[in-house]
Amino acid sequence: MKILVTGGCGFLGSHVCELFRAEGWEVIAYDNMTKHELLRTGFGSSAVRDYNANALRSMGVQVAVADVRNREQLLDHASGCDFIAHTAAQPAMTISWEDPDLDFTTNVVGTFNVLTSARQHGVPVASCSSVHVYGPWINDTLEEAGTRFVRQPVAIRESDPIMNGGHSGRLSPLHASKASGEFYTTAFADMFGLKAASFRYTGIYGPRQFGGEDHGWVANFALRNFLGWPTTIFGTGKQLRDILYATDAAAAFLAYQRNPVPGTYNIGGGPPNMISLVECVDLIGRIRNQRSDVKFGPVRDGDLSYFVCDIERARSAFGWQPRVQPEEGVGKLIQWIEANGSLFGESVSVSSAR
Ligand SMILES: NC(=O)c1ccc[n+]([C@@H]2O[C@H](COP(=O)([O-])OP(=O)(O)OC[C@H]3O[C@@H](n4cnc5c(N)ncnc54)[C@H](O)[C@@H]3O)[C@@H](O)[C@H]2O)c1
Repeated sequence: MKILVTGGCGFLGSHVCELFRAEGWEVIAYDNMTKHELLRTGFGSSAVRDYNANALRSMGVQVAVADVRNREQLLDHASGCDFIAHTAAQPAMTISWEDPDLDFTTNVVGTFNVLTSARQHGVPVASCSSVHVYGPWINDTLEEAGTRFVRQPVAIRESDPIMNGGHSGRLSPLHASKASGEFYTTAFADMFGLKAASFRYTGIYGPRQFGGEDHGWVANFALRNFLGWPTTIFGTGKQLRDILYATDAAAAFLAYQRNPVPGTYNIGGGPPNMISLVECVDLIGRIRNQRSDVKFGPVRDGDLSYFVCDIERARSAFGWQPRVQPEEGVGKLIQWIEANGSLFGESVSVSSAR
């Protein structure tokens, strides 16, 4: 069996590659290695840039440096594959408003090309969307309780409204590009019978994540603590998330490949994995025995102050559910950062609170 993992050298993609490789699959990591958001983290050295690709090569994964916007390349590499996991993206809301063209071509044209390749080769595909598609209307429904925001009902369902800014925020090009990817995925399943799914991922975290202030906040907080850099929280820090550990996030692709029921699915930690930003800073400080120096910046337009998934649809359709809880997962992330501390030697502290 052979899988094409677009964005395979990214954070989530690398975990998908590792999981399928461990299952005995031939794996192609298809990635253009642009890593736009990494360039803004302060630790975008070449050692960091190439870290995931080198780790994958050592696992026997074939790395193809190629672009999802190039349909010919994609069709070519998808030939002979049994499944496509589409994780390549422009994933950051901030970059989407700075460069809407990059966001559109990568996320909309790229996803369209992936679906076209899957259709042409007659293979199932699962594509990463994001809980961002719901939009900040959720912020209108919250109350404050101690160190977190709360709401009733606790979990957001796939049937809740999407692309809705509400009174609290505006929609960004990322909201539109991720929702467009979902619409095309649904249409390809409906019209062409493609076994295609969209995964609305919540905040994912884990080893091989070089998180910055644009994307990957749990790793960003942990890396900043490790480097002794101040952590910037945009807003009060009471924002609540149902964070999802990397291996659980990757396992959704395997579960779907085994039982490919087309649809749109929340893939998140659910209520057992809820943690607020200030609680996460605290957890990292306790595990590392070193408190973070926290600065608070203004709330960012379009940000969700709350996201907790109802994951029942994915559980009943293809039997997926998360296993790793935050204390364990954040501990593993920190172990990985500490074991690879030399990677960050050339790093320079930057903050987008600039
Ligand atoms: N990490 C999270 O918390 C999170 C949350 C919700 C959704 N998601 C989604 O999950 C997916 C993976 O996210 P991630 O955190 O691993 O991001 P990432 O930035 O680590 O990985 C994305 C990879 O895609 C590659 N890429 C970008 N443009 C490309 C192009 N045109 N052609 C080929 N490759 C290209 C990048 O080089 C990178 O290696 C994305 O679709 C993202 O929107 C992630």
